[in-house]
Formats: sequence, structure tokens, C-alpha cells
Amino acid sequence: MLQDKKIVVGVTGGIAAYKAAELVRYLIKSAAHVRVMMTPAATHFISPLTFETLTGHAVLTDLFPAAGGGTLHIDWARWPDTVLLCPATANTIAKIANGLADNAVTTTVAACTAPVIVCPAMNKEMYANPLYQQNQNKLLQNGYLVVTPGQGELACGEVGWGRLAELDEIVDAVKTAVTVKKDFTGKKVLVTAGPTYEALDPVRYLGNRSSGKMGFAVAERAALRGAQVTLITGPSHERAFSGVSLQRVQTAAQMLEAVEKHLVDQDVLIMAAAVSDYIPGSVSPQKIKKSDAELLLRLVRTRDILQAAASGKGERIHVGFSLETENEIPYSLHKMEQKDLDLIVLNNPLEPDAGFEVDTNVVTLLHRSGQQETWPKLSKLEVADRILDAVQNLLTVR
Ligand SMILES: Cc1cc2nc3c(=O)[nH]c(=O)nc-3n(C[C@H](O)[C@H](O)[C@H](O)COP(=O)(O)O)c2cc1C
Repeated sequence: MLQDKKIVVGVTGGIAAYKAAELVRYLIKSAAHVRVMMTPAATHFISPLTFETLTGHAVLTDLFPAAGGGTLHIDWARWPDTVLLCPATANTIAKIANGLADNAVTTTVAACTAPVIVCPAMNKEMYANPLYQQNQNKLLQNGYLVVTPGQGELACGEVGWGRLAELDEIVDAVKTAVTVKKDFTGKKVLVTAGPTYEALDPVRYLGNRSSGKMGFAVAERAALRGAQVTLITGPSHERAFSGVSLQRVQTAAQMLEAVEKHLVDQDVLIMAAAVSDYIPGSVSPQKIKKSDAELLLRLVRTRDILQAAASGKGERIHVGFSLETENEIPYSLHKMEQKDLDLIVLNNPLEPDAGFEVDTNVVTLLHRSGQQETWPKLSKLEVADRILDAVQNLLTVR
């Protein structure tokens, strides 16, 4: 996603400046083109040499260099897809909010028309200062993206608000800033992900191998494309993209309840979760004791979520996922008809690098019209994008 994106990182004079080095390294590893500019104060905290070595390019520290300067700040302002101020001091934020341009960083920002992301980091009293808050609000009102600081231990040893946001969140903001296609703006998308767990007794459960990666990828791409996304997930270790409204559930019944609760005003439902079809007929209140005899489990059917969602569907687009090991296409088409789906994503679990637990997938997209698209092995993010392209086509027609 960050491949070939041009990013100027502006480092200012805060103690979190050392974290900018890790961030720059991450962006470069993601194939972005990165240049670094620093305020004079920032050079007290970390050497320009560190960034020069990481990026392979000269660092802009001086508005009036001894030789060969010219209007470098204008060149730097025109070059990037986004500018990322990380960390951003209270001082630099105050200057930018009031239109000041007195060093290489503030002058470049003043001249820049690309999105500017600001990652404040400071002591908790500085952060709570009403004048600081006014300046931060001014930035927000003027279209700057602010990655709000977190709460935790600060460099001064105190605990409170003002800590630089986690790097994952900052990277999410960069992805948001460089994503030009915002075709889902104003749309509400409900996504489900992950497995469901059904208790057998207090220590055991029936589950499945779904990791949640596919549903989390759909949620991320939909959010990046401007949708308001709600993600309902079963137990999963995946991290939700910043801004996605996340609800965690355990069981198929809880997932059904959560979907029914959120469904009413959604434009799109994408059910990527692997929901249990059967659950234990009863849950033992005590751990089931081992014995030499066979243990037979009685399983009962769960209520099908897509089937339940079909009544009252109206104009809403419904996308289901299907995983079959035989007669895949006829079974999936039958499922599509039965559950009134608009699209069905047919997983092929027998392909290498596809299905559960991996970052890639090999799928066929079936349309209600009978059209079939078989895609090569793609990352789950790319699969998510293609599914959303198909959804967008349907939304446009309606
Ligand atoms: C040890 C030390 C740590 C500092 N940490 C921060 C900080 O985390 N956030 C902040 O806003 N200012 C911090 N300051 C104050 C800034 O360095 C100071 O306001 C400076 O003028 C910022 O300049 P700049 O915005 O041009 O980089 C710190 C100062 C010192 C001496």
C-alpha cells in the first residue's frame, strides 16, 4: 500500500524523536520513498546522520544552508504524497496552527498542499494546556490529520496523556493520507471476521481455524476507501485498522445478535466470519471427566446469520464467503440463491497459501448474474479491494 509513495517525515525536538528512526525504517521497508527534515531542536535529540543513513538521502535541517540552498523548502513541499510530523512538539504545532514559517520544517509545511499528519508527543501538562488544545483543534479544523497521543508512562517519568501514539496507528494514518480512492465515503459497511468458539465445558470449546485475517483486511480496505466500518469478530489476534468500530464476540449466537443489532442502517454486509454450523447440545458446568468409555457429543444446528439477515435486506448488498471441498460452484450458487446474496467469495482451501491463517488467498468471485471471476494468488488486502470493487459496482447500479 505504501509502495512508491513519497513521504516527508518532519522530526521536531521532543524526546520521542528516537522513535521516528524506527518509523522511517518501517516506511522504507514498505517500499515508500522517504526524506527527512528536522528542526534545529530535533538535532539535539537524534543525529541527522541516523536518518541520512536510513534513507540514503541528505536530511533537510537548515532553511538557509551555507551553500546551494535556494528554495529547497518549496521543492520539499511539492515532492511528497504526504508529510508526517513525528514527533510533533507543542512548539511546532503552535507555529503551524498560527501560520508561522521560521525553520525548514514549519516553512515546508506552510508551503505544502499534500495531506499533513501530525503526531503530537509531550508531557501531560503541556498536552492539557488549553492553549495547546486550541492549537491542536485549529489544525483539525484546517484539515490536518492528528494522530492523538496515547496514555501511559511518559519520558519525564509521569503517567498520563501525551505519549506518542503507537507506530501501528501512525502507519494507519499514513495509509489513510496516501489512499486517493475514497469511493466508499458516506457508506456504512458491516464486516464479520474470525471463528466462533462454542463451549463444551469450562475449559474446552469447539472452534475452527479461521484467523480473521480476511475479514480484518476487508474492514481495513473499506475504511481506507472512506466507509464507516463496523467489524464484528470472533476470537482473533488480528489488529483492527484505526477508526474501525470493533465488537468482539465468542459464540455464533453472540455474532448473530451483534449483526442483527448493527444491520439496520448498513449499506453493505460482508460476512467473512467462519461461524459454527453446529454447537454442543448442552454445556457441562464442570470439566468433563476422562473415562475409558467413548464420549459422544450431541450437536445442534445454529441459526444461519446470512439467512436471518436476508429478511428485510432491501437495497443492502450482501456478500457471503463459501468454503467447499467438492462441487464448489453448484453448492455456492445454491447458497447464493437461498440466502439472497449479491456476491459470494468461494475460497479454495486445498490451494497452497490460501484459506486459513495465511496472508494470501486464492478465490473465485461469483456474481448473482452468473458471472465468475477467478483471481490468481493475491494478498488478502488485494482480495479485499477486488471484493469492494465488485460491491462498488453494485452500489453504483442501485
Ligand atoms: C529533554 C527535553 C525533552 C523535551 N521533550 C519535549 C517533548 O516531548 N514534547 C515537546 O513538545 N517539547 C519537548 N521539549 C521542548 C522542546 O524541545 C522545545 O519546545 C523546543 O523549542 C522545540 O522546538 P521545535 O518545535 O522547533 O522542534 C523538550 C525539551 C527538552 C530539553
